[in-house]
Amino acid sequence: MIPTLAILISGNGSNLQAILDAVASGQLDARIAVVVSNRKDAFGLVRAERAGIPTRYHALKPYRDRGQERTDYDADLAALLAEYAPDWVVLAGWMHIFSHEFLRHFPNRIVNLHPALPGQFPGAHAIADAFAAYHRGEIDHTGIMVHLVPDERVDEGPVLATQTVPILTDDTEETLAARIHAAEHALLVETLREMTR
Ligand code: GRF
Repeated sequence: MIPTLAILISGNGSNLQAILDAVASGQLDARIAVVVSNRKDAFGLVRAERAGIPTRYHALKPYRDRGQERTDYDADLAALLAEYAPDWVVLAGWMHIFSHEFLRHFPNRIVNLHPALPGQFPGAHAIADAFAAYHRGEIDHTGIMVHLVPDERVDEGPVLATQTVPILTDDTEETLAARIHAAEHALLVETLREMTR
């Protein structure tokens, strides 16, 4: 059976695009059942629609406005995804942290991509943090990782793949980010290939 992916995004979706391209070219033997965004204006939703993939928008704000808990949001997202029976839930630039109420539905089946090496620079500003650490003389390279999400820790969990990314003396944060994103696109697709083989 061809593995089914649910891909969660919050923004540009360039990693989603890499997966879409890999599926379209036959490099990755998988079916993308749905792309979910927590942001309505995420460009990744446009990428998915162009590729004919079903999209869903699942916003947190209405839950907050109704005085509901984050766990209610997470439970509903899990139910939404369950409609598509994904083998793997891929967090490709998804900017929410999950509670157990979501995680318990997909044990060992949630994959996250993070633009730093294991144990370094968790959180939303990993590239800026690495760039600053480089200029303080603390590191001479950074990297990326793909890992499973077993619990509520941020950007931690069993590592599936890593790759170092050099930082060059004339890098700006933008040139470093571009090099990191290019590496992410390749590593995420390659890791999904390994996992779905
Ligand atoms: C990537 O750097 C990913 O590692 C991080 O968010 C970024 C998403 O980029 N978690 P994009 O939306 O795939 O272009």
